Amino acid sequence: MTLIFAHRGYSHLFPENTMIAFKEAEYAGSDGIELDVQLTNDGEIVVIHDEKVDRTTNGKGFVKDFTFKELRKLDASYQKKTFLKKEPIPSLFEVLEWMKTNHIICNIELKNGVFPYEGMEEKVIALVRFYNMTDRVILSSFNHYSIVKCYRMAPEIETAPLFSEGLYMPWIYAESIGAKSIHPKYTIAKTELIKVSMEYGIAVRPYTVNKENTMHRLFAARCSAFITDDPVKAIKIREQY
Ligand code: G3P
Ligand code: CA
Repeated sequence: MTLIFAHRGYSHLFPENTMIAFKEAEYAGSDGIELDVQLTNDGEIVVIHDEKVDRTTNGKGFVKDFTFKELRKLDASYQKKTFLKKEPIPSLFEVLEWMKTNHIICNIELKNGVFPYEGMEEKVIALVRFYNMTDRVILSSFNHYSIVKCYRMAPEIETAPLFSEGLYMPWIYAESIGAKSIHPKYTIAKTELIKVSMEYGIAVRPYTVNKENTMHRLFAARCSAFITDDPVKAIKIREQY
């Protein structure tokens, strides 16, 4: 069965990368959530997509220049108001704590392509191990050096390189860096590529799939999973397969 991962939580309806978006994704029946992490200047792993807080919160500036305490005062529901309630930027700690109450899979995307975030891999891996979630977490990144580092440090945690272009026999590449899966942009996740990768033993989870015809194509191809803003739409379409 093709699994459904909610991109930044149920971000089609709820403010991205917030606890309400993750809880609503789980409540809706998603198999997994995808989230993005950055690092504060006092070393806390926080869940936010951009290097800056400007787009998604009522604050301004780089995440790396805030302490965790300062960052928590911001409202991450600024961009998409939910019941007029404030939503703080979650810490990864908070998400893993919540995961103890359910069975959801969590794809943590390390946003370390712009700033190197010294020690980010170590901190994420330590938290995942502390919570005994190594079999429910997938670490992904566009920074493939970081993917290699994660694999060397924690071979028990699944890793997945992200690709937006330039895919050539990615199943061989994935195997060579210890990754058990690939996360390509949906436009380059051709049906034949999915088939060959999966036969080779490499799972494929395209992102970000919001169009109905692409969802149908991926379900028909029995793709491992896909990442979508709208898990409810995806779950409804999956019922036909
Ligand atoms: O992890 C897949 C996808 O989230 C990567 O792109 O920019 O939405 O983080 P982006
Ligand atoms: Ca992401």
